[in-house]
Amino acid sequence: MGIYNCSLLGYGYYVPETILTNAQLETMMDTSDEWIVSRTGIKERRIAAREQTASDLGALAARKAIAAAGIQAADLDLIITATITGDYIWPATACRIQDKLGLHGIPAFDISAACTGFIYGLNMARGLIASGSYKNILLVCTEKFSAGLNWQDRNVSVLFADGAGAVVLGRSADEGVLASALFADGSKSDLLLQPGGGSCKPISAELVASGQHYLQMNGKEVYMHAVSKMPQALDAVLSQAGLAVEQLDHLVFHQANLRIIQAIVQRYRLPADKVVVNLDRYGNTSAATIPIALAESLESRRIKRGDLVGVAAFGGGFTWGAAIIRI
Ligand code: ACO
Repeated sequence: MGIYNCSLLGYGYYVPETILTNAQLETMMDTSDEWIVSRTGIKERRIAAREQTASDLGALAARKAIAAAGIQAADLDLIITATITGDYIWPATACRIQDKLGLHGIPAFDISAACTGFIYGLNMARGLIASGSYKNILLVCTEKFSAGLNWQDRNVSVLFADGAGAVVLGRSADEGVLASALFADGSKSDLLLQPGGGSCKPISAELVASGQHYLQMNGKEVYMHAVSKMPQALDAVLSQAGLAVEQLDHLVFHQANLRIIQAIVQRYRLPADKVVVNLDRYGNTSAATIPIALAESLESRRIKRGDLVGVAAFGGGFTWGAAIIRI
């Protein structure tokens, strides 16, 4: 697609040590392990320490990705961060991660594409490497949902969690991102959002009293769109790469909900052992779910270097997308 090929040189992830189980949630709100597992597949999730910020989680994942890539941090020439639970509304969490890595001077910016953040970041990084603009790009996907969840709202608080995944992308002999496709539909932005805190509904005592600074979601609408849009994106990248889904060694879908993943698995008649699922242990960490799953699967040797992997995500915006990568 450009002058240079681009590959994912290294993967890393960090999940906080503290585990919050469904049984613990039962003591905090009117919910049950049975309801959460049957509707979502989530059994437990990780919660960051009070003082840990999204940039702290991201920097920990980033250090592992840099080490795995076999480069020095100083070789990086751009940092892209995908997050919707960053340290501040602004400045960019990417700048905070840059500071924590001691890489002062190189450009750093955030992408706001919710759960599709990894695919958006991958697509951007690939284009910037292919064009020759940058050589080694750090893409960090990090979320700390626990800080901003309404723990009284059982509809939402049982779903989301904390964690970070990172990849280093760089020039390579062979192409590592075989295809990628991005989509968005802003007319659905009110179905999954945090209404308060921006210029539309600035922070005020009234806004906080009405709970509009918390994440709001129309679960059924999100579900319906997720099960049709992720296949649309996957079909687009399969056609771009000239591949059939059977030729992929593994598929990693956004880890929001097991029922969404199962619906897609049935649609393509995928063998279960090709589809990575870790949402039972980590819940929905939005932009971070796919890079966490990739890095963890490499660590456990479930996915190996050279494998062909399809990834697809759907999230707030609405945004959705997919990619095919050679690990
Ligand atoms: N525990 C117990 N009961 C609950 C809980 C809970 N944690 N949460 C909601 N309920 C209740 C509701 O209050 C409602 O009760 P009511 O009927 O008395 O009003 C009832 O359960 C709703 O039940 P269902 O209609 O069976 O819920 P549904 O099957 O739609 O499941 C869910 C809800 C899991 C949110 C589903 O809509 C879904 O998976 N949506 C996709 C949303 C998603 O995954 N979002 C993640 C963010 S977006 C993304 O990452 C893609």
